[in-house]
Amino acid sequence: MNASAPSADSLRAALAGLLDGLPPKQAAQAVDRLIANYRGTTPTDAPVLRDRSDVAAYAAYRMPATFEAVRGALDALREAAPDWEPRTHTDVGGGTGAASWAVAEAWAEQPPRTTVLDWAEPALALGRELAAGALDAEWRTARIGGALRLADTDLVTVSYVLKELTEADRAALVTEAARAAQTVVIVEPGTPDGYERIIAARTLLIEAGFTVAAPCPHSGACPIEPGTDWCHFSARVSRSSLHRQVKGGSLPYEDEKYSYVAATRLPPAPAASRITRRPQIRKGLVLLDLCGPDGLTRATVTKRHGPVYKQARDAEWGDSWPPEDEG
Ligand SMILES: C[S@@+](CC[C@H](N)C(=O)[O-])C[C@H]1O[C@@H](n2cnc3c(N)ncnc32)[C@H](O)[C@@H]1O
Repeated sequence: MNASAPSADSLRAALAGLLDGLPPKQAAQAVDRLIANYRGTTPTDAPVLRDRSDVAAYAAYRMPATFEAVRGALDALREAAPDWEPRTHTDVGGGTGAASWAVAEAWAEQPPRTTVLDWAEPALALGRELAAGALDAEWRTARIGGALRLADTDLVTVSYVLKELTEADRAALVTEAARAAQTVVIVEPGTPDGYERIIAARTLLIEAGFTVAAPCPHSGACPIEPGTDWCHFSARVSRSSLHRQVKGGSLPYEDEKYSYVAATRLPPAPAASRITRRPQIRKGLVLLDLCGPDGLTRATVTKRHGPVYKQARDAEWGDSWPPEDEG
């Protein structure tokens, strides 16, 4: 039973007990097998997460990272729609619930009532167990596909799921999410193909009448020329002992790269521009790669810019620019 408020720490605490009783070597092997499965590009016709040890390994290994990625996307959405609070939330392909934890943390004062949908029963069972006392959630079996019908809801999240679907199922899911929800947040790995899936979903959401709240400063065409680059962001995740065991090395953290789109039927206030790379800090100046109304640009901020220089030094990849109070 986990009775604390949803957060990165309480999620970690809930995960800590998960691998108890599973010999470390077996846990590491299960993770290796899952990584191999997830590297495959062909969508499967049966769940990859087959039993409790698969799911425990997935959860312990991946949930902190997907939680941080979704948290990054939700932070940007909240900045663009500060007064909006979802009362209901559906987490499609929610698995063990990482995105649902991030949603509950984002609106901690009054978290929405969540429905987690997934076709992998063992994932739902473990998610329910981890979330007991921490999330207001219902865990339901559902298969994503053309026949999926979602109940009307304020927020739909689709986190690290599109990659596992056929192109037709991806489009059907995004279209159905747009029909059922007021706001849709989709997160994918921060890879060139993850970005392409995000752009395809973004197009469908705009066609359905949504406005992009984040990361883009507008709902016009993405200025990245296809095949030349990909829009992605980075979230720092502290490594667990399981990570160190599987990946070796001694770094206490790793950086989770993710791409995302948050779009809504509300009138959002998107960032004027967004920082699209890690800022480069040089002596007396900061270089900021930006996506803004004029497409991709680079700003050079020097000491001569006064207080903005300090803000540029503190700015991070993925932040909006200029910061609110300077806007
Ligand atoms: C990589 S996991 C992501 C889980 C969770 N959203 C997260 O961010 O940690 C992908 C999830 O999608 C689910 N999934 C894949 N294809 C599905 C389908 N056709 N119907 C329902 N769920 C599916 C899997 O069972 C798994 O739980």
